[in-house]
Amino acid sequence: MKKTLAFLLSAIILVQMGIAAFAAFDAPNLSKEEWKVYYESLAQSNTLPTLNVGADETQVSLCWHSDKAAATPEVQVSENSDMSAATLFKGTTTEAENDTQLVCRVVITGLKENTTYYYRWNTGNGWSETEKYETKSFKDHKALVVGDIQIAEDSRPAGDLSQESISRNWNTVLSTALNQNPDISYLVSPGDNTSTGETAREWQSLLMPKALRQLPIALAIGNHDKKGMMYNYYTNMPNEYYGNFFAGLDRDFWFRHGDVLYLFYDSTSGNAPDHKAMTREAIKLNPDAKWRIGVVHHGIYGAGDCIGDAETEILLSTIFTPIFESYDLDLVITGHTHSQGRSHFMENTKVVATAESGKTYTDPEGILYLNSNSVCERPVDENYEAEHLAYSFLDNSTTTYSTLEFKGDQLILETRRGDNGEILDSITIERTKEHNENAFGNIAKRVGYTVIEILGFIYTMIDNLVRSFG
Ligand SMILES: [Fe+2]
Repeated sequence: MKKTLAFLLSAIILVQMGIAAFAAFDAPNLSKEEWKVYYESLAQSNTLPTLNVGADETQVSLCWHSDKAAATPEVQVSENSDMSAATLFKGTTTEAENDTQLVCRVVITGLKENTTYYYRWNTGNGWSETEKYETKSFKDHKALVVGDIQIAEDSRPAGDLSQESISRNWNTVLSTALNQNPDISYLVSPGDNTSTGETAREWQSLLMPKALRQLPIALAIGNHDKKGMMYNYYTNMPNEYYGNFFAGLDRDFWFRHGDVLYLFYDSTSGNAPDHKAMTREAIKLNPDAKWRIGVVHHGIYGAGDCIGDAETEILLSTIFTPIFESYDLDLVITGHTHSQGRSHFMENTKVVATAESGKTYTDPEGILYLNSNSVCERPVDENYEAEHLAYSFLDNSTTTYSTLEFKGDQLILETRRGDNGEILDSITIERTKEHNENAFGNIAKRVGYTVIEILGFIYTMIDNLVRSFG
């Protein structure tokens, strides 16, 4: 009995040591009162930086606003907390959304795995405070998914929640996720990062959580972001793809982390030729990536009341699903509906195989679609059901987060409550085979998709025209 107990205790200590091997994020879960004080101390500033994912796991980038007269796009990086033996990285400046500042962007390269770095940026008025950034294991790693953060400017609220309350919800879900998963490497968001897309204040609230100085983020563009141009001034996503027909804010981008290739699509653009061309280019450059994951804002095969929405179900599904299926994507992350859900394995608009919670599927046919919840308030049809849905969580008073853990041949997808971390859904996909890429292989498919490309192009041109008059 004693031996068994000793063994169990040692096992628990070892597990705890394993978790502790990753230093905790600085991600305090602040009370209402504490957040109010913190929020008000930063609400009028416009200099909080964005830490963005890099083109691959050895890179990250920093983007911040600085006074026009003094803007100096420089970042120092050191493995020592006193910043000794620091490496200096230089970048570029571009116009900001206002006349008094410039946007600085610097890419940091040469990062090693499982290493603690310290960095600081040139504020234009000396060096910033030193921040800590810890790389994790590159190949086997874990990503965080939170969508529809949708920070809403107080003068134009999207619901009943104030800007301060939404940003506190955002801090809470991040804090819960990162404190439970100190091994997370980066955040993936399927868009609607802001609500009006037009104000600097929304971005300042979005960037307030302290953890965002330690967690690189990859943000898709959503329909709300597209209402303005602010995304342009606060991000520096890698491998941005502007194609031939994108206009205004439109862009796709991709990045690689370990064995995973992420393809981010701007689903507010029906520009099928450029979405297809970006996919082809990214896959050509990353033939060895074991996992291919798409990220789009609109909830194709999502949960909630967007189902039946013609734009998502007909137009976007027609444009995107042939690309996803032709290039044999494993998982597509979506948002927009503000409802957490996950599909069965989908192919050619049909359920090709069921995907039950708690099970492992080896080399499955079809694609899994994960629809993320929102951080802001949202109306939800709690009675919603759809054939494609394997799981949904339609409680509109609770945030959620998902993690993608890449481990050997497995991708473990888990969804948890954002307030207390309780597990809601999990599924594991095992990939032992190469990608079965047919890239619009047969003639009928190729001709069919050419028609979609032409129609998508026409739709995009009309949409651009309407927007230019809007
Ligand atoms: Fe949306």
